[in-house]
Amino acid sequence: MIDRPTVVVSFAQSLDGRIATRNGDSRWISGSETLTLAHELRRDNDAILVGIGTVLRDDPELSCRLAQEHFSPLRIVLDSRLRLPEASRIVQTATRFRTIVATLSDSTREQRDRLRNHNITVVDFAADQSGSGVDLQQLLQWLASQGIQSLFVEGGSSVITSFVRQRLVDRLLLVIAPMLIGDGTPAIGDLGTEALAGAIRLTPRQPRQLGRDLVWELEFPPTA
Ligand SMILES: NC(=O)c1ccc[n+]([C@@H]2O[C@H](COP(=O)([O-])OP(=O)(O)OC[C@H]3O[C@@H](n4cnc5c(N)ncnc54)[C@H](OP(=O)(O)O)[C@@H]3O)[C@@H](O)[C@H]2O)c1
Repeated sequence: MIDRPTVVVSFAQSLDGRIATRNGDSRWISGSETLTLAHELRRDNDAILVGIGTVLRDDPELSCRLAQEHFSPLRIVLDSRLRLPEASRIVQTATRFRTIVATLSDSTREQRDRLRNHNITVVDFAADQSGSGVDLQQLLQWLASQGIQSLFVEGGSSVITSFVRQRLVDRLLLVIAPMLIGDGTPAIGDLGTEALAGAIRLTPRQPRQLGRDLVWELEFPPTA
């Protein structure tokens, strides 16, 4: 097993397993009572990670905004082509909150300098098996070498799917809202599961109700 931080994934989904509509609208699937859960997870983990798709769609700040909490974790954006806009909240707050953009080596010097001028650390990684994404195992090993012991993966769908498909997740904190979306963005995409025997079976903890939502914590099987 690789030396890596513990990884927790959390998202809010509809009853039919969607984390956004087909137009990408996800605000807000969960109720106000469960919104603070994401901030608690940010507070409780050393780093938080999202894909560039979520940044372009939602423009999140990814800071911990709980009353009387001043700690905000390291922010990491997976962005192979350095599309992170200068006007985004992440770039605009990068002097206050440490930020890393994980990219591939083919981005230009000009693209890197543009982000570095905003106090963002740009780190190169190898490409994953698809050839277009960041190699997550290499990223996790690098984070461990930087002293990061826990990582909160906040989305979106493609990033969650990559982590789960590669069996790099330890815990899932699932928020289920009493809502049906129909066609939309699946929480988890293709895992290559043909037979049920190959499905990933999680160990559930007792679910609890928060407002109208169900919050369910589940453990992934340990990896060999
Ligand atoms: N309900 C919720 O809890 C929740 C939470 C978060 C997001 N969302 C929603 O999710 C949607 C965004 O999901 P998304 O799938 O479009 O985007 P995403 O998962 O946020 O980002 C995907 C992008 O990340 C980059 N990437 C780099 N390395 C990767 C890797 N190893 N694996 C996967 N991606 C990698 C790729 O872009 P490059 O090739 O350009 O690098 C990829 O297209 C939005 O609608 C957002 O609102 C919902």
